[in-house]
Amino acid sequence: MSEYMRSMRELIDAVDHAGKNFISINDLSNEQLYNLFELGKALELFNRSKIDLFDDKMLALMFFQPSTRTRMSFQTAMERMGGHVIVEANPKVTSSVAKEESIEDTMRCISQYANLIVLRHYDEEEARRGAESAECPVINGGWGHWEHPTQALLDLYTLWRRFGRIEGLNVAVVSPDMVEARTGHSMAYGLARLGANVSIASDSDRRTPSEVTDRIRNEFNVELNEEFDFEQDSFNEFVRKQDLIYLPGCSAPAGAKADEFKTLMDRYFVRYDTLKDEAEKGHMIYVTHTLPRRKGEMDLRIDNTPHQLHFRAILQSVSIRMALLASILGN
Ligand code: CP
Repeated sequence: MSEYMRSMRELIDAVDHAGKNFISINDLSNEQLYNLFELGKALELFNRSKIDLFDDKMLALMFFQPSTRTRMSFQTAMERMGGHVIVEANPKVTSSVAKEESIEDTMRCISQYANLIVLRHYDEEEARRGAESAECPVINGGWGHWEHPTQALLDLYTLWRRFGRIEGLNVAVVSPDMVEARTGHSMAYGLARLGANVSIASDSDRRTPSEVTDRIRNEFNVELNEEFDFEQDSFNEFVRKQDLIYLPGCSAPAGAKADEFKTLMDRYFVRYDTLKDEAEKGHMIYVTHTLPRRKGEMDLRIDNTPHQLHFRAILQSVSIRMALLASILGN
């Protein structure tokens, strides 16, 4: 075995998560997260090439909600490692779910084909039942309004690659609607646990579920700052104090309520001028949106500046997802 493969094996072993589910970001300890980051860094070499680690392994992608990034980056990650993928991107139409097959039976059957399943589902409870019925490990690819841990994982990884640390960074998780921001929930947990100074800004009627905030404060014993009901000016003053603005998006309604919601979104609009002004004073503020985003959610001029992290995160999502798959599939 080559020296390189030996060190890859050691990195996989160090994560110590073989054969296990990844349902919440809290399924991995801080030490495991950092070991996973190291494995992701080693696998960056193969973001655009190939390493034959899992020629005998099959990954199933079971997506009950639309996806571009999560589905395609998992497929890319598995195939870059020489593995194989079966995809069900619209199960309510093209699988036997359309014939009212239960999630339990569906997942149990798929786990006879696959060594690992990534499940995205609109209903957290149903997803949980499906994962419990599977006879192989399951990764949460976004469940209901609860958590989207692999998005948080890739955003934490991108931050770690950019700053070389997460501890001590000032990060604001911002959405008018933090109730439904599943990525925001996972990211707030991860940031808080890894020692960032976390603020969450939202509308007071749509604040982060207490399940998340209580757990951060009481179980992880970490201070968490919550801010509500900014106006655009006061919000941009708050932006000046951050190192990263994390935008987990929001479920903007269509139709009659769309205009009302647009007014709300405007209050959390990150102005490019704010970032530019701080950069001129020597303080670089980064912005990342988990995507997809809607018109009006952010100043698109940011996209083509060094402040932007969301498109940089896309390529890095492949290596950290390779690392996650490898650590679960084991050696
Ligand atoms: N960020 C994210 O989950 O994107 P997709 O919905 O396209 O997978």
